[in-house]
Formats: sequence, structure tokens, C-alpha cells
Amino acid sequence: MPKQIENSNVGPTDWTSSLTYQSRATVRPTAADLRELSLKAQARNHTLGVTGMLLYENGRYFQTLEGPPAKLQQVWSSIRSDERHTDIEVLSEHLIPARLFGAWDLLSYHGDSETDPSIRRARAEHALTSQVPKLMELVLNGDDIAINALIASLSQSGWDGDAIIAQLIEPTARALGDAWLSDDCSELDVTIGLSMLQLAGHAVRHKRSGQKSRYRILLATAPGEPHALGTSLLADLFTDAGWQVDMTFPDSNQALANQLSAQQPDAVDIGMSDALSRKKQLEHLRQTVERSRFAAPDNLAVVSVGGRLFADAAATAENVGADVARKTAAGSSIQIAELIRQKRQEPRRK
Ligand SMILES: Cc1cc2nc3c(=O)[nH]c(=O)nc-3n(C[C@H](O)[C@H](O)[C@H](O)COP(=O)(O)O)c2cc1C
Repeated sequence: MPKQIENSNVGPTDWTSSLTYQSRATVRPTAADLRELSLKAQARNHTLGVTGMLLYENGRYFQTLEGPPAKLQQVWSSIRSDERHTDIEVLSEHLIPARLFGAWDLLSYHGDSETDPSIRRARAEHALTSQVPKLMELVLNGDDIAINALIASLSQSGWDGDAIIAQLIEPTARALGDAWLSDDCSELDVTIGLSMLQLAGHAVRHKRSGQKSRYRILLATAPGEPHALGTSLLADLFTDAGWQVDMTFPDSNQALANQLSAQQPDAVDIGMSDALSRKKQLEHLRQTVERSRFAAPDNLAVVSVGGRLFADAAATAENVGADVARKTAAGSSIQIAELIRQKRQEPRRK
């Protein structure tokens, strides 16, 4: 039974069902069959608010589906009686507080097809996310040498840092949070695990030589937030993009406001936990954002927020009065520079 999440306002309607099964294909599907199956499934899943992934390889299917319990059951009763597969074995069925595949109506991967570009793309996306359980295990074992070796081998095989952050490191942080919610690890494991992921984040940084930005950003954890993975990833990314970067781990809105008025940055990012949804902190964060704007009204152009709540789309920038809510740390320096420029109506730099 999953642990009750910290917000007592979160009722059963906020929960998402997750179901994973494997099965055997009755007839070996062609690439065209699989494409048609995926397209139809994606359309129906989209209508019903169901997300997930479907793998097919060597005559076997493996699928995870997530969605509102009633809608998921609707899809599941069709799939279960579909004659294209048999020997269906349900591997897990439980409630989860947030989706793992929220961005995909159905992420499909056909291991037998090398020629179809959409399947190749899905396969490429899956190649990194499929490493999540492995990275999670290394992180929980505190095996920093193996973590570095894994990241180095992914970099060597051509993955860039942004992809590794968005498709592997951040999803592993969320998986850690889920493991805590279902009592599979302790809160201390999550905190130590996030520190290990910070190390993994350092290992993917790629300095673009000589790049210099005219902007300055203050990277802050939300007052009192002990998890600093997002803030640490951003520190590397913004530094590598040539920004002037300051970091702070304030214990109150006042402490953050003092720093903002002393430093007068162009932007501030306020990061919540990347592992846990802290829904009941939303109102606090709204006050932090408001206070931050008030502390540096003349120069502070952009207030950005981040954390699992925003990655899962459980909250938006508007909910807390911010200008932008990042779903991932990757690409933030470009997005925030553009927002500053737009707000000040500055010309774009060559
Ligand atoms: C392995 C496999 C996975 C499938 N996954 C989905 C899915 O995620 N969503 C979906 O709507 N249909 C999926 N389908 C197709 C359904 O079984 C079914 O054909 C389709 O939803 C139409 O349902 P209906 O015949 O009850 O109207 C899948 C079929 C197979 C064989």
C-alpha cells in the first residue's frame, strides 16, 4: 500500500493508477502493424487521459499504463481481451501520486525495427529512460564510481548532457521519491540519493569555451527545502553558459529577499524538491515569489521555479506568480535569457 503523501488535502481523485504487464504476441507484428497499433492507442489514450509506454521485442510486449483509475480500467479491459497477444501477466498494479510517463500518450519502442524514424526516435528516448532502474540502484548503493562510469559511457556513446539530465537524472530523482512513498526506501536514502545524483549531474557538464552571458542569476532552494539537486544542476548549466551565478540555501523568505536586494540579479530560480511533490508548500512558494519580486523590483526581470510539482505538471508558474516553471533543468539558461530579453525588450544577441 503506498504511503499517504504529505498533503492531507490530496484526496483519492488526485491519485493515478499504474499497471504494468507483459505478454506474448500471437502473431508476429510488422513495423507497420506496430505503428498502426501505437497511433490508435495514442489517440485513445490521449482522449482518456491515459499515458504510458509500450515495448515490443522478440515476440513479447511489455507495457506500463498510467491514468485515472476508471479510465485506465476502460483501456485495460480492451487490451486484456485483444487477440493480438496472450499469456498476459500483470507485473504490478498500484496507485501512484504522480506519473512517470506524463509526457507520452504512449511511448512506443519496437526493438525489431531499425528503419522507421518515429520508432527510432522513441527507441532513442527509451534508451536513456531504461537506464533509470540501474542508476537508481547505483545511487541507493552509493556507488559513485559506477555512477561516473555509467554517465561516462552514455556521454561517449553520443548522449549530450541535456538529454542525460532530462531523461535520466531527473526521472531517477522522481523514482527515488516514489520509492520513498511506497516504503521501499527511507527519507534519508532519498536525501543521500539526491546528493549522488548531483555528482552524476557534475559528470555531464560540458563547458562551452569562452561563452559569456551578460546576465546574472541567483539560484536558490525554496526556504527550508533540504533537496538541492535542481539548484546544483542549474549551477553547472548556467556557469557553463557563461552566466554570473550565485547560489543560496535560505532558511526564510527574508534571508532570500536580503540576498536579492544585495545582489540585484537579472533572474532568480527557486527550486523545490525534484524527488517529492510538496503540494502543501505551494502557498509558501507563492509568498516567496511575491517577496522576491518586492526585494529587487528594479533589476529582477524573471522569477523561475522548479521541482517535481512542476515537472509533473501538478502546478504551474501562474499558481505561484512566477514567470516560468521549468519542467527540467536542461535548456533553462536559454529559456530564461530569452524571457529576460523579452521583458526588457532588449535586442537578441548574435
Ligand atoms: C500489446 C497491446 C497494447 C495496446 N495498448 C493500447 C493502449 O495503450 N491504449 C489503447 O487504447 N489501446 C491499446 N491497445 C489496443 C486495444 O487492445 C484495443 O484494440 C483498442 O483500444 C480498441 O478497443 P475496443 O476494441 O475495445 O474499442 C493495445 C493492444 C495491444 C495488443
